Amino acid sequence: MAYTTILVTREDRVGIITLNRPDVLNALNLQLMEELVDALDTLDRDETIRCIILTGNDRAFAAGADIREMAEASPVELLLRNQFARWDRIRRVSKPLIAAVSGYALGGGCELAMHCDIIIASETARFGQPEINLGIMPGAGGTQRLTRAIGKYRAMEMVLTGRMITARQAEAWGLVNRVVPVELYLEEAKRVAREIAARAPVAARLAKASVLKSFDTTIEGGLDYERMLFYLLFATEDQKEGMRAFLEKRQPEFTGR
Ligand code: CAA
Repeated sequence: MAYTTILVTREDRVGIITLNRPDVLNALNLQLMEELVDALDTLDRDETIRCIILTGNDRAFAAGADIREMAEASPVELLLRNQFARWDRIRRVSKPLIAAVSGYALGGGCELAMHCDIIIASETARFGQPEINLGIMPGAGGTQRLTRAIGKYRAMEMVLTGRMITARQAEAWGLVNRVVPVELYLEEAKRVAREIAARAPVAARLAKASVLKSFDTTIEGGLDYERMLFYLLFATEDQKEGMRAFLEKRQPEFTGR
């Protein structure tokens, strides 16, 4: 697929997807979502890629779903567009996904960042769920993921007032991993991505699945799930390599097998 709304680059074992509709602050229209899902799917299947970064530009990660595309839509049209199937695919990306956020991450943009496993923010990042100002509410997981990330009362305030919060506030509330100067946010995301990419890929993938499981299961079910994945990793060559390397006092060489 030839992309016109995103850019895809690869640096060693890290795939980088850059949202690229700068004129509209990377508003997420249907085409961008289709391209994004295609790129994520390709990188997720590519054995040479071990971690994926999602980013925008300094001014905007993404200012939300494309309002122009939605303004006159009927519920049936929205239903037939089946756009949430694309979001579901993003939710199922098995490799670690890092959001490198600068500028606006609003509405669907904030929700997209929250689909990622780690969020690195620039000092200029602004997060918000402003849908209430448009007469709607978050539709791509905002009410659920924001609440789990920052708690009921803070989520309620953001969703009900539509007000944005600063990167520092997001950091204090646990919505982002860390805040760095604007010239460093992508570098910092790459640094974390390289660190993850040096680890055992199957273990990283199953560890991600296990952490995410905690959001939709009881502690009992989650512990059982974790245990099964833990046993499963002893079937990998990387487990043998990792433990032998430790005992032989050398760096492991993980192959993803
Ligand atoms: N959809 C479509 N176009 C958008 C957009 C969006 N979400 N956000 C910004 N744009 C466009 C603007 O229309 C403008 O285009 P023109 O130059 O053609 O007029 C361009 O991007 C630049 O935007 P502004 O001139 O508004 O820039 P600003 O600096 O004055 O304001 C902003 C920036 C505060 C982010 C403002 O653009 C804004 O409020 N955007 C909308 C944010 C929003 O409501 N997002 C939620 C969308 S609904 C959603 O996401 C639903 C869901 O859960 C999936």
